[in-house]
Amino acid sequence: MTLALGVLVSGSGTNLQAILDAIARGDLDAQVAVVVSNVAAAKGLDRARAAGVPAVVVDHKAEPTREAFDAKLVAVLREHGVSCVVLAGFMRIVTPVLLEAFPDRVVNIHPSLLPAFPGKDAQAQALRYGVRFAGCTVHLVDAGTDTGPVIDQAVVPVLPSDDVASLAARILAREHELLPAALQAIASGRVSVERTGEPGARARVRVAPAPSSP
Ligand code: GRF
Repeated sequence: MTLALGVLVSGSGTNLQAILDAIARGDLDAQVAVVVSNVAAAKGLDRARAAGVPAVVVDHKAEPTREAFDAKLVAVLREHGVSCVVLAGFMRIVTPVLLEAFPDRVVNIHPSLLPAFPGKDAQAQALRYGVRFAGCTVHLVDAGTDTGPVIDQAVVPVLPSDDVASLAARILAREHELLPAALQAIASGRVSVERTGEPGARARVRVAPAPSSP
């Protein structure tokens, strides 16, 4: 069955575009059922409309709590038959209200090699620290900020000449490959979550290899 994605965006939506393009090329067996943004002016909404995908605004400022905002998101996502939620440049912290509605099916892309540099301004954090390699991570979302089990990561070099803009652009180009590929792993049933049950043990994602092409 084709994976029905609900993509949440707050800004330019280039990762959303990468998903739409991968679907159009036949590289991702999914459909984007709805795009939701907390920002009415988000360019990601225009990208959705241009692709003929329903684009919905849910204004977080109109809701009294994060939980009430997430309940609105869940209602929109369910209404559109979503089975997997993608946070693609979505600048809100999500709550258990969303996570429990889509267990192990909320995916985030973050512009660092987690667990390094979680939270905001990851690329600036990497430059300030002086690391030689940076990158991006696709992971399942849990109750923490950028703490959930890793699905996949990609590495880019940090160059001596880099500023935040040049490093962010190099990472973003890899995000556009990594996110659709990780979603295809989910769509093809190759992603499973392992929990040992031991207190304090992290959940881990196992990704089975893709069948090799003939
Ligand atoms: C990306 O770097 C993503 O990892 C981060 O915000 C940026 C969003 O870019 N969370 P876009 O909106 O997909 O263009």
